[in-house]
Amino acid sequence: MELIRKFRTIDGKFESREKRNFLTIDDFKIKGKVLLLRVDVNSSIDPETGRILDDTRIRRHSKTVEELSELEARIVILSHQSRPGKQDFVNLEKHAERMSEIISKKIKFIPDIWGELAVKSIKSMKDGEIIMLNNVRFDEQEISLKKFNGKDFVPQSKAKMVEVLAPLASLFVNDAFATAHRCQPSLVGFAEKLPTAAGRVMQRELDYLGKAIDSGPTPRIALLGGSKATDSVTIANNFLEKGVSEVLTGGVVANIFLIASGVDIGKPSTEFIIQHISEYEEVIDSARKLIDNYGKRMVLPTDVAINENGLRRGISVEELPTEHAVYDIGLDTLVSYIEKIERAETIISNGPMGLFENPEFAAGTRETFNAMANSKGITVVGGGETTMAFNQMGLSSKIEHLSTGGGSCISFMSGETMPALEAMRRSKIRYESK
Ligand code: 3PG
Repeated sequence: MELIRKFRTIDGKFESREKRNFLTIDDFKIKGKVLLLRVDVNSSIDPETGRILDDTRIRRHSKTVEELSELEARIVILSHQSRPGKQDFVNLEKHAERMSEIISKKIKFIPDIWGELAVKSIKSMKDGEIIMLNNVRFDEQEISLKKFNGKDFVPQSKAKMVEVLAPLASLFVNDAFATAHRCQPSLVGFAEKLPTAAGRVMQRELDYLGKAIDSGPTPRIALLGGSKATDSVTIANNFLEKGVSEVLTGGVVANIFLIASGVDIGKPSTEFIIQHISEYEEVIDSARKLIDNYGKRMVLPTDVAINENGLRRGISVEELPTEHAVYDIGLDTLVSYIEKIERAETIISNGPMGLFENPEFAAGTRETFNAMANSKGITVVGGGETTMAFNQMGLSSKIEHLSTGGGSCISFMSGETMPALEAMRRSKIRYESK
């Protein structure tokens, strides 16, 4: 396919393609071309009625589909829904219907992936037409060929799905950031055979998450909380290495760092960690190394809120240990975190500051999230539970970027090699050297 030299970033600015590890839709002339578009419309589904309960991902990918259709490409959508053995492991008919409603254009669902029906349907498409093939995880090889051999994606590129569909298309567009940590044929196999571009969802995720971690304006700060402390310690390490100015901690993550700094947080919170965090001693050791290496850039609470018979009581860290569990950051800590958020030019948040589901202990989370929503800086929210919390508090529309990823966002923030991103990077190098 012919390359065009027009490089628009997500902010509408023009940027040199060389700066990116991947190509985008802007790099190709796609009118009349067959595109294989991998999206991630994996959604929560009511097992009784089959109704889609949350269409956020479908909405996000609809924008890419709409743009490609306006550019008069012939769009073949591929996605998965859930995993074998789960109740919501269903076909994509409802997803195609929902996306059709959103873009007000017919998206024909094809109950086939790479068989005769799929091939015939692709061959008879007209410019601007859109079809959605069936759940790619109905194909046994999509499930079995999932290991990254650390070298290349040749095994995935030999999967039947890729061998049949790739010759019918001119370009592979990967928009599935939320599955980019997986190494399955539909995510990495096509990139071995076809020029590959990131779709708009993928591009936005990589631009914003990338900016928040290693190239956004400074001060660049991160708030890490919640109970997934093992991931958070890895993420904190990656953030600090990449130049994030300060990492502010809350939730169980803060408790781990307090223990690592030599504070006895008391029996209930310590026992929670012992019971819920596997290999907690190693996690505490890693946290200690971060404090030693980065000093004040690792920010710990100076006071906490404890749960005293269901009621909130603030105590300073010097007053620890306590016989009550720590449920939130304290008010002094909250004020200092808000000041840091207000001064920051880039802010990324992953995980709540406390047990915000209980109104007594919601202040730390609610007020830091509010400060982010009102901040002048670039604001980015890691996916999964944190995005859900922003939604529940009605603050999502005030955040610049909410990730669609769960596991993939954690993987990205941890600095891991993600197979689908690696496949896009290699495809760019291969394509440009031709
Ligand atoms: C997700 O919802 O996290 C993605 O769709 C990936 O799904 P998986 O964990 O089943 O691969």
